[in-house]
Amino acid sequence: IKMPEDSGKEFTMVTCSAPVNIAVIKYWGKRDEELILPINSSLSVTLHQDQLKTTTTVACSRSFQEDRIWLNGKEEDITQPRLQSCLREIRCLARKRRSDGEADVDTAGLSHKVHICSVNNFPTAAGLASSAAGYACLVYTLSRVMGVEGELSVVSRQGSGSACRSMYGGFVQWIMGQQGDGKDSLSQQVEPETHWPELRVLVLVVSAERKPVGSTSGMQTSVETSILLKHRADSVVPARMKEMIEAVHKRDFTAFAELTMKDSNQFHATCLDTYPPIFYLNDVSRRVINLVHRYNRHYRETKVAYTFDAGPNAVIYTLQQNVEEFVQVVKHFFPPETNGGQFLKGLPVAPTTLSEELKQAIGMEPMVKGICYIISTKAGPGPRVVEDPSEHLLGSDGLPKESA
Ligand code: DP6
Repeated sequence: IKMPEDSGKEFTMVTCSAPVNIAVIKYWGKRDEELILPINSSLSVTLHQDQLKTTTTVACSRSFQEDRIWLNGKEEDITQPRLQSCLREIRCLARKRRSDGEADVDTAGLSHKVHICSVNNFPTAAGLASSAAGYACLVYTLSRVMGVEGELSVVSRQGSGSACRSMYGGFVQWIMGQQGDGKDSLSQQVEPETHWPELRVLVLVVSAERKPVGSTSGMQTSVETSILLKHRADSVVPARMKEMIEAVHKRDFTAFAELTMKDSNQFHATCLDTYPPIFYLNDVSRRVINLVHRYNRHYRETKVAYTFDAGPNAVIYTLQQNVEEFVQVVKHFFPPETNGGQFLKGLPVAPTTLSEELKQAIGMEPMVKGICYIISTKAGPGPRVVEDPSEHLLGSDGLPKESA
């Protein structure tokens, strides 16, 4: 919206939302820290924004004295290098478009300072990757405010590597690229979210201590010390990317699931091969891994897959027809706290009964309160503009509204 004021001041405000993504071929390791260029390509599934998303409002006004940012209700330091990279790159693209004579470039947005306000619709404390959705949303919203189009994934990549994959819906690859300037290190949609409607995602939020080592510093130590990581990047991932893209194209769940689990396991193996070693999986994570393998073995079929990022939470991929039973299995082997909030959030999952045979085949001792709750979701679309002005997180004074 543009609100020309008496003084001729211009006030522009845009709100957008962007999704979380979960990699099935992992990004771990940079060849350039500054530009955030990876040592291998990666591939992820964009999760549905109904369950997990970041919403960001950017306002632009001549009256603003400086760029400012509020994250989940708290003002943060705008001078952080990664935020500065994104702001600089978007302004650079806008300036280029203006000098190319594009009519719809908002020149006001170029000379004016911005106020940014961003919130997640999921608890940050859950330890879910929020930087990907956050930077994707920031870059997408800034691009809309400044009237910039074109390759935005190279910009969000400079906020957080995995953020470049949140610029599209469905199944997305981040092509590592070869160039020193990073212009060819970008993301591409492999298939849209409508391609595989039966695919379902369960986020098992593990009752966790805080994550010990952040991904940025973790992968830095891995690049410096792990020869397994080098082998992985040079020789394993290139072939796996091809196989994974093929599995997605063909909707071959068995191939998709096995590659997903093997790649998660290899990523965590490179963490153990890092010196000093990094541990992201905990006891609950390892039990989930066992549970999945015993479940699959019982059916002599790969019905369920797990993957883990830089923390203990498990993300489960399965097909719609297995969701009810598998959720019941999780409930049985990780009995929830009876008094706590609801155990299952997101897409509804009907309760079912488990056969004694299945419980015995799994044969694990139930672990009370190992898992806090489950978020049930599926693949979803990429970033979008939120049209309803009542959804703006900033008020007409350019400051966060009460609720933001
Ligand atoms: C394990 O994108 O958070 O989730 O580029 O330093 O911001 P930076 O790291 P980040 O790393 C994500 C690592 C991962 C795997 C993945 O998402 O591919």
